[in-house]
Amino acid sequence: MTEQHFISPVYSKDISEGTVTWESPSNIALVKYWGKKQHQIPENPSISFTLSACKTITSLTFQKKTATENFDFEVYLEGERKPDFEPKIETFFKRIEAYVPFLKDFKFKIETKNTFPHSSGIASSASGMSALALCLMSLEKQFNPEMTREFFNQKASFLARLGSGSACRSIEGDLIVWGENETVTAASDLFGVKYPFPVHENFKNYQDTILLIDKGEKQVSSTVGHNLMHGHPFAERRFEQAHENLAALKSVLESGDLDAFIAIIESEALTLHAMMMTSMPYYILMKPNTLEVLNKIWAFRKETGLHIGFTLDAGANVHVLYPKTESENILKFITTELAPYCQNGQFICDEIGMGAKQLNN
Ligand code: DP6
Repeated sequence: MTEQHFISPVYSKDISEGTVTWESPSNIALVKYWGKKQHQIPENPSISFTLSACKTITSLTFQKKTATENFDFEVYLEGERKPDFEPKIETFFKRIEAYVPFLKDFKFKIETKNTFPHSSGIASSASGMSALALCLMSLEKQFNPEMTREFFNQKASFLARLGSGSACRSIEGDLIVWGENETVTAASDLFGVKYPFPVHENFKNYQDTILLIDKGEKQVSSTVGHNLMHGHPFAERRFEQAHENLAALKSVLESGDLDAFIAIIESEALTLHAMMMTSMPYYILMKPNTLEVLNKIWAFRKETGLHIGFTLDAGANVHVLYPKTESENILKFITTELAPYCQNGQFICDEIGMGAKQLNN
């Protein structure tokens, strides 16, 4: 399949105005996307758990107007106009214009809010871009009501990817793969697909407690970080390793081997940060408290034999992953031993989710 698949026909139907609303979750990668080619094509495959509690709710209000040269939209976060969000949306609209032919025929009002606290350091780009992509697909569906659900989701993921790579993994759940590879042959560089193989009970309702270690703005954005993988001395080997880890994860997900699972995800997290530390210019996004927490997790795991592991995104926060059956003791440990390392003691309890939901029609 190529990009051509997502170019819309010219629609004859006339849609004058309306509002569509979607909620879309964040996701956490187990095998990380780090490094991309032109047009948001990933250098390596990635796989993620879709989350449930951390999500963005976006309403798109559209009103037909005479087509103009420019996009016409306003962005609001929790009711407040946010002009500083607009350049990112403008870039997104430019990237998707060829696939969403009606963008310049409407005036849009984009109203958005997140369930997680403002500036928590949790990236809202995956949930935010996927929610907006889904709203645009709902509008496209009004032009083309015959569109199948499969095409709808695929194209929503395709559009979301053009907003932010990882956003293409937020449309559905509970495990999503993005990027061509030899393990999941149905996977694509263009959109995320549901993980197609058996998954052991151990991974059902898997928990993700997100420790908010540092809520400050990141010094280096993900987009800059991805670009630093061009000419990176370890890039090629890292891209191969992502393929190997995805292949290894397949048997682990099937057998339910939690120790092997933890070894893969923790190695992926630290490799991601190792790539940052060995970029030129080099940088470190972990904070002293990130390291304190990792050491505490390792000590607690050794002491108790409980299956607590971690992963990191491109920031200082720690995602603590564990099976639901062990959550009582692990949550007690998080509350008493790890929360003191979080800013204002804050953490968010999340778990695997099934993807985005439409909230109106
Ligand atoms: C470390 O999807 O935020 O979270 O495509 O430039 O928007 P852009 O990058 P983004 O990168 C996320 C990278 C990551 C790993 C992952 O989610 O796979």
